[in-house]
Amino acid sequence: MTANKQTGPLPVGSTIGILGGGQLGWMIGREANRLGYRTVVLDGSANCSARHVADELIVGSLSDPELVQQVAEKSDVVTLETEHVDYRYIQPIEETGLLRPGAAVFKMIQDRLRQRRFLEQHQIPQTPFQSLENEDELTQLQWNGEKAILKTRSGGYDGKGQVRVDKAGSLKAAWAELGNTPCVLEQFVDFKMEISVILARGVDGDIRVYPIAENVHRNHILHMTIAPARVSDAVVKKAEEIGAAIAEAMDYVGLMAVELFLSNDDELLVNEIAPRVHNSGHFTYGACETSQFEQHLRAVCGLPLGSSGAICPSVMLNVLGDLWPEAHEEGAGQPDWQHVFASPASRLYLYSKSPARVGRKMGHVLVKHADLDTAIQTAEDIFEKLSTAK
Ligand SMILES: Nc1ncnc2c1ncn2[C@@H]1O[C@H](COP(=O)(O)OP(=O)(O)OP(=O)(O)O)[C@@H](O)[C@H]1O
Ligand SMILES: [Mg+2]
Repeated sequence: MTANKQTGPLPVGSTIGILGGGQLGWMIGREANRLGYRTVVLDGSANCSARHVADELIVGSLSDPELVQQVAEKSDVVTLETEHVDYRYIQPIEETGLLRPGAAVFKMIQDRLRQRRFLEQHQIPQTPFQSLENEDELTQLQWNGEKAILKTRSGGYDGKGQVRVDKAGSLKAAWAELGNTPCVLEQFVDFKMEISVILARGVDGDIRVYPIAENVHRNHILHMTIAPARVSDAVVKKAEEIGAAIAEAMDYVGLMAVELFLSNDDELLVNEIAPRVHNSGHFTYGACETSQFEQHLRAVCGLPLGSSGAICPSVMLNVLGDLWPEAHEEGAGQPDWQHVFASPASRLYLYSKSPARVGRKMGHVLVKHADLDTAIQTAEDIFEKLSTAK
């Protein structure tokens, strides 16, 4: 990486450093390959998904300052597939070169309280919350035993690091269960739908928002994304405005996702922001003009953004390790993919991960159909068949 910050677009052939080589890093890398960029990927495992697309794979911890520095030295821009790398480890990249999005974004997002305070400061509607930093704050909390969720301020994903509380007295136990670590107590939102806004903001401030996505979770893990979400035009407009306001306020560069709850009276509340390509944006990879991965690359490389328009309505079905045959051993059985291949409108994306474990994201299926209800039905049928064929 050169000492001077690059201001113009990074020419094709430049090298993109990616911290994290899971499925997100893999799909960013695939799109980078297609666009003619080189990639250097840092991941904890030589067996990571991105091994197939990385021009160079460095194996080691994302929190090892020397390895992060090595990636930076070999790259013209560095980006991340995860928000879970302590911002202090990536901050030095900004001193010598390009880190997109910037370390300040990660500093804010890595801490749920800081993220909530940021939203508050910018008058963005969000889930009501209180801070629970220490024993003192525990005794001062104004909580009447209503349903709530206690979440650790840092490190949570796929519903980990959170405990539901619903009756007076259980809060202390919940806090102990999470390790008496700083937390945020959030009101439980009785939502009718979860949606996400997938958008990108370019170096020039241009913002492109994808069709609003409707998310269905099972066991706290994303199960299906339906795009476009089945909501009114007014909700779409409001969601787009919230997403754009957040991206502007952060002076964001890259692709991001904003997860929101839609209440029964059509009020939108921000749940959280993801400063990266997102599972609920996988439908863009096949069902939109520009995939979220290419869009992210365009943004971080300083290129003009591509169209975020949909080619076709779609449903993305996550394929978890739960669908693998019981007693799976490395290299042994697979789900019967004929159930996917038999559907001409469906595309299988497998992340080359091993072993399959319950809850582990192993791949996804994208179902495209001009009629959204048909796409939903097809995705549900495929899921049903894969589940029963185990
Ligand atoms: N305040 C809340 N009220 C109701 N449900 C909630 C609330 N907070 C979280 N949930 C449910 O739990 C899911 C996971 O929560 P959240 O997104 O905060 O955690 P996470 O671990 O960061 O998840 P992920 O990595 O899947 O985004 C949400 O998608 C939602 O279904
Ligand atoms: Mg979430």
